[in-house]
Amino acid sequence: MTYVAKGWLIKKREHGKIIFLDMRTIDQPWIPLQVVIKKQEVDEITWENAKKLRQEASFIAEGELIQNPRAPGGRELRGKQIIIVHNPEEPWPLGKKSHPPEVLMKYRHLSVRGQKFIKIWIVREKLIHYLREWFEKNHWHEVSPPIFVMTACEGGATLFRVKWFEEKIPVYLTQSAQLYLEALCFALGRVWCLAPSFRAEKSRTRRHLAEYWHLEAEAAFFNFEDNLRVQEELVIYAIKKLLNDDVTGELIKEIRGNVDDLDEIKAPLPRVTYTEAMEILQRKNFKIKWGDDLGADEEKALSEEIGTAFFLTHFPTEIKSFYVKLDPNDPRVCLAADLIVPHVGEIIGGSERETDVNELIKRIKAQGFDPTNYEWYLDLRRFGSVPHSGFGLGIDRFLMYILKLEHIRDTLPFPRLARVKYFI
Ligand code: 4AD
Ligand code: MG
Repeated sequence: MTYVAKGWLIKKREHGKIIFLDMRTIDQPWIPLQVVIKKQEVDEITWENAKKLRQEASFIAEGELIQNPRAPGGRELRGKQIIIVHNPEEPWPLGKKSHPPEVLMKYRHLSVRGQKFIKIWIVREKLIHYLREWFEKNHWHEVSPPIFVMTACEGGATLFRVKWFEEKIPVYLTQSAQLYLEALCFALGRVWCLAPSFRAEKSRTRRHLAEYWHLEAEAAFFNFEDNLRVQEELVIYAIKKLLNDDVTGELIKEIRGNVDDLDEIKAPLPRVTYTEAMEILQRKNFKIKWGDDLGADEEKALSEEIGTAFFLTHFPTEIKSFYVKLDPNDPRVCLAADLIVPHVGEIIGGSERETDVNELIKRIKAQGFDPTNYEWYLDLRRFGSVPHSGFGLGIDRFLMYILKLEHIRDTLPFPRLARVKYFI
């Protein structure tokens, strides 16, 4: 069967009268196609073209596609014709070896073509595909929230201010679509969205981005427990689908190594209250007291103790945002839960939402915001309010967990980190 492959040269090996070209094709970029050129089987132009190709040259190879169990993907192209589209004049700036992260960031526009990165982009794409599939199957509505906002959702410290034309009013890049999803769940029932969120996080950790992809969901007539059930079902659905997918199943094993812990994950995930977590941490000699927020080290210690993904629930109200509902049984804590996973820590934050207008006004003020800016949000409690709950899943962190990546920057082709030096 004649086959036409279009793509780029990853690497070339010359053995006398045979040349092997490893090609990244537009059809299956995650599996290099081995193109074999034999001098006696091709015309002189094709032989010369094959010899001339430089790393990342773009070309079209035509020939016979045959089975070869020893070639990547089990097939190779017996090339009959090579047409060069563009042969670079300069050597590929990234050469053939692996590079430290700084170099990969500086040349991000080129390093996105690297084989490991391509595999990550494919898993990312499929992860989003399966998450969306879960929402479609369960009849949730996908909505499109705004990015420019005037109401903070997650505290003032991580707000990015934007200059809005000539206006003096403060406009920000959104930290979360939640407040808008709350409005929309009273229109549509169950809603979700996937959009960028922005955090002016000064902390330069392996799990913080200044711009990340946020999957958020909100449902009317949903309580705290309904919310946790949806989260575990969604997350486990996506993991199982990715592992059973012909393409991503292999890619995940290749990048991550052992997948047993992903394979074994099942609902219901353990629920651990903040108060129980404090006891565990104090037993492990953490210098921490009831009321303190938990950081990466604490989350790691808890994951090791529990050994699987779990929900950390019932946080002290003060360490969560203004919208969380107080626990009617113990108003010192609130009906909020984070999903904590090994290797990464928190990947989801969610809660049942406060419905009492006066309680909300009090807490908006306590967070240093002016309640008059939140009038529209408070209206949601004045007109046909119902119990409702929702959550936000960091796609980049979720992918970091699925692939066990060391740093969140490698989950995205063009990551936005606090260090501006790396912008492309
Ligand atoms: O816990 P967070 O701040 O919760 C909210 O924004 C809620 N309003 C969501 C909701 O209920 N609709 O953020 C949710 C998730 C975190 O668990 C984390 O996975 C991710 O967003 N996240 C980040 N990911 C990368 N870089 C950052 N700087 C992140 N900040 C939060
Ligand atoms: Mg959180």
